[in-house]
Amino acid sequence: ATLPPFKNEPPTDWTVEANRRSFASALREVRKSMPFQAPLIIDGKKIKTEEIIESRNPNSFSEIVGVASKANGSHAQKAVEAAWKAFPSWGDTPPERRAEILIRAAEEARKKRHFLAALQVLEVGKSWSEADADVCEAIDFLEYYAREMIRLSRPRRMGDVPGEISELFYEPRGVALVVAPWNFPLAISTGMTSAALVTGNTVVYKPSSQSAITGYMMVTLFEKAGLPPGVLNYLPGPGRIIGDHLLRHPLVHMIAFTGSKEVGLHIIAQAAQTPPEAQHVKSVIAEMGGKNAIIIDSDADLDEAVVHVLHSAFGYQGQKCSACSRVIVLEENYDRFVTRLKAAAESIEIGPVEDPRFFMGAVIDEGAQKKIMEYIEHGKKDGKVLVMKTPEKGAEGGYFVPLTIFTDLPPDHRLCQEEIFGPVLVVIKARTFDEALDIANGTAFALTGGVFSRSPQNIEKAKKAFRVGNLYINRGITGAIVNRHPFGGFKLSGIGSKAGGPDYLLQFMVPRNNVENT
Ligand code: NAD
Ligand code: ALA
Repeated sequence: ATLPPFKNEPPTDWTVEANRRSFASALREVRKSMPFQAPLIIDGKKIKTEEIIESRNPNSFSEIVGVASKANGSHAQKAVEAAWKAFPSWGDTPPERRAEILIRAAEEARKKRHFLAALQVLEVGKSWSEADADVCEAIDFLEYYAREMIRLSRPRRMGDVPGEISELFYEPRGVALVVAPWNFPLAISTGMTSAALVTGNTVVYKPSSQSAITGYMMVTLFEKAGLPPGVLNYLPGPGRIIGDHLLRHPLVHMIAFTGSKEVGLHIIAQAAQTPPEAQHVKSVIAEMGGKNAIIIDSDADLDEAVVHVLHSAFGYQGQKCSACSRVIVLEENYDRFVTRLKAAAESIEIGPVEDPRFFMGAVIDEGAQKKIMEYIEHGKKDGKVLVMKTPEKGAEGGYFVPLTIFTDLPPDHRLCQEEIFGPVLVVIKARTFDEALDIANGTAFALTGGVFSRSPQNIEKAKKAFRVGNLYINRGITGAIVNRHPFGGFKLSGIGSKAGGPDYLLQFMVPRNNVENT
């Protein structure tokens, strides 16, 4: 049957009391089932290992959310073999049938929407609405890529020479290694995995250890949807050990990675070492970090700008590749903006986000906490603290860091150049709009950016000269929506085409052309 046109999954309306109750009850349900158990899944078989990964609640680290098995090199080898064995049959499964599996996985996710979001509140410390948005995005990826595959599955007639039929078509690459981050634990894993599957590849999926349980839940959605054994293998484990084994493996045909610049560059370099027995060059999609800026023009609407800057900088504790970490303010507006930003930032409540009163919670783990605190110390040494808001009582058992805003740091300072991935924002003054653009563009990243302005000329200038993958004008810079805002960057923010956009699936396939003289 033909699918109805794509529609984005609507976010939960929190003004409806029944929705708030349902979410609170999902949180209780998740808690009751903790600790979840997540064995490896290789060739459809569940394997428990002696070595384990404990996934803990960042807001209350004594709580174990779940226990995942920990794969080693030999499991990695078995997972690739299983995926390779399943490839011929899955690759030849009609695209419509593969798309149907995605649609069914989306139905499964809809049935468990609040459960899947509540799990994220406890496993990775997302607030209710951030977790809800992540589940909506995962459903969107499934629905969107299902339709995209149907579109791309029709061979394209090329040219119009009489007596010749030339057709362009696409086929899968083989085994795809999907390596995912923890910060959008369902959405990004589902996006990369569903794209690989619907295009006919088989998958070895390595979730982040910090979100291994949510990753396991994604795999169960596909299982329930009827995906055959071996087509999707679940392989949690230490990135370095599994990576060493798989990145150069001759049977891995492509790698879809989302994560940090450091790991992404390592993967790109490893994947390029084609082993002698390989029969293909590995292709790599690597979506990496950002150092995103919002420019506040001299005529900007500050009521709007302040709220959106705060959301973009501190939503999910600043742990988004798209987060704003620099705000560049034209000098005419600087004092006004800084005064209002400070007052608004100081009103943000910080505490365990299981309580929806808190906008900001703990960061993901001890390593992140330590790294962010080191950056804050550098900022204190070299700049001025505008805001340092600490969490409220009740936050003692979590990995909390203060919401921090600095001024008076030069644009080339490391706090203005390196991805901190935490709730740290730097305010920078610019004399002219051109200077603001130079500062905004003056990093090695190019992911998201924003401009608040009422000047049509400056807006037009920014559209051309603010060189980022996703530019947002007079709105916040996070929360790209599948289909509406194809997402992804360039420079050191990544290689690959945009997730949730019309070119994405092409990267998972090889193009072929058949020409027949008639
Ligand atoms: P990370 O790079 O530390 O880890 C990502 C994944 O890579 C994890 O599964 C990890 O286990 C694995 N890994 C680590 N070392 C490996 C190795 N040697 N070989 C193979 N795999 C290895 O990133 P993270 O902390 O999970 O996520 C945060 C980062 O992700 C930030 O830099 C953020 O900007 C970026 N990110 C980018 C996007 C985007 O679309 N551009 C989206 C989300 C997150
Ligand atoms: N797609 C995510 C966002 O736009 C990373 O915030």
